[in-house]
Amino acid sequence: MAIREIVKYGDPRLVAKNETVKVFDDPGFAALIQDMKETCWAAPGVGLAAPQIGVNLRVAIVDLSIGKDPSQVLVLVNPVVVDAQGLIRDEEGCLSLPDLVETVARPEKVTVEAFDERGNRRALDGRGLLARAFCHEVDHLDQRLFVDRLSSLKKGLVLRQVVKRQKKGAW
Ligand code: NI
Repeated sequence: MAIREIVKYGDPRLVAKNETVKVFDDPGFAALIQDMKETCWAAPGVGLAAPQIGVNLRVAIVDLSIGKDPSQVLVLVNPVVVDAQGLIRDEEGCLSLPDLVETVARPEKVTVEAFDERGNRRALDGRGLLARAFCHEVDHLDQRLFVDRLSSLKKGLVLRQVVKRQKKGAW
């Protein structure tokens, strides 16, 4: 098992199409899930999507406890947001855009249908931060970063900052 490198904004793998997972009973898939958990916890972050470690599959991890409470680790395979209610504006960041925090509107409450790592289908309800994390990770699987949820003016300003920081070698 290993902590993998997190790819950053500008890497083509963050915007490549992510394939649906069809085979669950596979040692490579089990290793991917374990590596994603370890990478997410080490970062540390509350969520990680497979394309963020350069793997273009529809898989994400959400763990609001960041490795402290095993009951909170959620593996989302082929997730779909099937219901969304309310709207909350709150601060959000992303491991692929380090040190950047912006206010993003997200649903207050969502229901996500997804398979777990063993291939069992289930529905997960989340509100508040959990709903935000679900939406953020499903967005990654749809090749969308949180900055894509900002107004085009704000997004332009933010991304100019990002490119400047990248040129300086900050990340
Ligand atoms: Ni992210």
